[in-house]
Amino acid sequence: MPAEALPAPLGLLAELTHRCPLACPYCSNPTTLEGRGAELDTATWTRVFGQAAALGVLQLHLSGGEPAARSDLVDITAAASAAGLYTNLITSAIGIDRARLLRLKQVGLDHVQVSLQDVDADSADTIAGYPGGHVRKLALAEAVVEAGLALTINAVIHRANITRVDRIVALAVALGAGRVEIAHVQYYGWALRNRGALMPTREQAMTAAGELGALRHEYEGRIIIDAVLPDYYARRPKACVGGWGRRSLNVTPSGRVLPCHAAETIPGLEFWSVRDHPLEEIWVASPAFRAFRGTGWMREPCRSCDRREIDFGGCRCQALAITGDAAATDPACDLSSHHLAMAALAEQEAAAHEIRYAYRGRPVARVRP
Ligand code: SF4
Ligand code: FES
Repeated sequence: MPAEALPAPLGLLAELTHRCPLACPYCSNPTTLEGRGAELDTATWTRVFGQAAALGVLQLHLSGGEPAARSDLVDITAAASAAGLYTNLITSAIGIDRARLLRLKQVGLDHVQVSLQDVDADSADTIAGYPGGHVRKLALAEAVVEAGLALTINAVIHRANITRVDRIVALAVALGAGRVEIAHVQYYGWALRNRGALMPTREQAMTAAGELGALRHEYEGRIIIDAVLPDYYARRPKACVGGWGRRSLNVTPSGRVLPCHAAETIPGLEFWSVRDHPLEEIWVASPAFRAFRGTGWMREPCRSCDRREIDFGGCRCQALAITGDAAATDPACDLSSHHLAMAALAEQEAAAHEIRYAYRGRPVARVRP
């Protein structure tokens, strides 16, 4: 794609740190995390935010790990706001009390996304691997609304909680959220290790999808329900990250700039760092962003498909994980020669009766969420 035809990115995900008190088995961060010593400092993030705004980025997502683990989170948020970015804090709630929340609001925070693992504390804390976490999440969600900040509830959905989608949406409404994300696990990074324990059955996935349709109708005008359905039972893939190198950038804690969250799983890609290059140069010219941008890299069946500029061939990281080839058609597409095998794999894994989670840094545990 010629540089002059390149759209500006709309969003930037700033992974401020990989440190996190939770141990969710569905974590999509890499299996090997970047350490504290490698993290960008406040001044570098400030420079990146200015470059992002100049490039046309509108929305900044402060993420992690747990961004509250950064002692300079208020300064980072102030820098983002001063750059003119709409600033969203994505948090587990651990490390944000009311006083810190109010300081974040004072320096310009616009929006908070709080993750919930389930509706019941026992199950939620088991899934997160963090006793006492759920009640703190509810308290922060209430504080966000009281402070007059916009609230989104995010719930990652998998076999242990997929039968409670309706109660999760009802809880988000009760908390005063304007939006709830019901997002099925994306099997990248650490989550791929736990795929067998997380995968729902096809029947569970279809039931949840049907419920979400009814819930949208029931709650119309009261809350926006966003849903990410399980790719393994899909017929067509999603346009992952809105198309590679089209809409968004991810900056890792150490400053490497990725087209998507899991791009580092793809061997051979060359990522540039904000330590060495301005963000615009990275967006336009870095080899990783150019690798799968547009449609020129596609093979059949994507190359001649009339959806090639709708879903951009789906997800490169999923294509790699399932087929071993990042340039293959996403197997979520039923035109992929790997589609039936992927669905069969999901059904086989979902048939397991026990749930055994691998939590980071702990022995594999059999759990009863
Ligand atoms: Fe999308 Fe490729 Fe499938 Fe067409 S063949 S629907 S472009 S993934
Ligand atoms: Fe990398 Fe989908 S997560 S392209």
